[in-house]
Amino acid sequence: MKKICVVGTGYVGLVTAAGLADFGNSVIGVDIDESKIKILQKGGIPIYEPGLLEVVQRNVRAGRLSFTTDIDQAIQDSKVIFSAVGTPPGEGGEADLRAVWAVATSFAKNLNNYKVFINKSTVPVGTGKKTLELIKKNSEKKDSYDVVSNPEFLREGSAVGDFLNPDRVVVGSRSEKAQVIMKDVYHALIIRGVPYVETNIESAELIKYSSNAFLAVKITFINEIANLCDIVGGDVSEIAKAMGLDGRISPKFLHAGPGFGGSCFPKDTMALVEIFKEHGVKSRVVEATIEANEYQKEGVVAKLRSVMPDLKGKTIAILGLAFKPETDDTRFSPTKVVIPLLEKEGATVQVYDPVASDDFKRDFPNLDYKNNAYDAIEGADAMVLMTEWNEFRSLDMKRVKKLLKTPIFIDTRNTYDPRDMRDKGFTFVCTGRTKCAY
Ligand code: UDX
Repeated sequence: MKKICVVGTGYVGLVTAAGLADFGNSVIGVDIDESKIKILQKGGIPIYEPGLLEVVQRNVRAGRLSFTTDIDQAIQDSKVIFSAVGTPPGEGGEADLRAVWAVATSFAKNLNNYKVFINKSTVPVGTGKKTLELIKKNSEKKDSYDVVSNPEFLREGSAVGDFLNPDRVVVGSRSEKAQVIMKDVYHALIIRGVPYVETNIESAELIKYSSNAFLAVKITFINEIANLCDIVGGDVSEIAKAMGLDGRISPKFLHAGPGFGGSCFPKDTMALVEIFKEHGVKSRVVEATIEANEYQKEGVVAKLRSVMPDLKGKTIAILGLAFKPETDDTRFSPTKVVIPLLEKEGATVQVYDPVASDDFKRDFPNLDYKNNAYDAIEGADAMVLMTEWNEFRSLDMKRVKKLLKTPIFIDTRNTYDPRDMRDKGFTFVCTGRTKCAY
């Protein structure tokens, strides 16, 4: 059992801290944000992530998990230090690594014995090498440390399950000593046969960017096929299902929608394009994906305009603000592109999201936020479903039709069947199945 410190109590850091404690390690979670640590010390959690509160409370009760703002003491008391701090996009799209450098500097100043610095955050290839140089510069202790890249593959909304039952664990380091320690940290997964990939730091850093960028490309590809279907009459859901029967393609991440959002795909695709540019390597696929994704988000307004040409003075109900269900995160959510475009054309919006309204209010404080779907729909000239929350999957369509001024429904997530909606008397537009209704 190792004494582990996890710096950062966001959805990566807190899930990692709780998960590692669940594997039997003794873990201390650190954050510079005192308010977050206070919530955690009082038995709560500062983020919305299904199942996380229970894992945190179970391990705090068992005495394997605690929290502090004192990073120096936490590092001194630990053998293994995970850096799970944010690496948001900078001005030009490149990853902002200031928080990583701050943790590495604290690490260097508290090397009271051999320790391993593990980068959990998504960082550009070459960050591990720079981290080694920074630690060396800030510590006279030679060879009393190693640096490891251990990227996370957590999806918001299912992060706990993704941590406790990962498809694979990737550990990048050429230090035998560090690799032995990492195998001990992840012993609970290794004995269960979870694939464990040992490689060098640069490969581990690129595995993360490559995986995320590839998933973003895959989603964007099916979105473009959906756009074609809406003209030629194909059914993108049938196409995706048949494509997915090819084992090389897999049916996952082939659901057409309003474009990808979140704290990862947008940031990681932008950062990967910058990495290509920085190293003078020509890349087209990822750059085109970013451009196509913005077009997909804007395309939601075009869908509405196709059945309501003049949006001036109209009221539009927006169902869903989070970038995906089961999260309160609205970072790069497609709604952040759609709502300003609607307002620019003279429409007003009334919105509802089961949990993400507070997060959305940070950027859009003056919208008309409703407390449930039907209140948002009442009196609207049209409704647009943006996030496929479960509670939106079985709306009472008779009641919806009565509440809407005109029965216009833009279903960007293909939550409802076009034929059924036509039979119910709706003017129904979705993503890649619209013509299936006619
Ligand atoms: C993603 C990766 O899945 C995860 O492995 C990585 O560690 C972090 O980034 P996350 O961003 O939380 O996870 O959500 P994800 O479920 O991947 O969805 C990302 C975006 O793609 C969402 O906006 C979602 O709506 C969209 N999406 C996903 C689609 O439009 N279609 C799909 O088929 C799947």
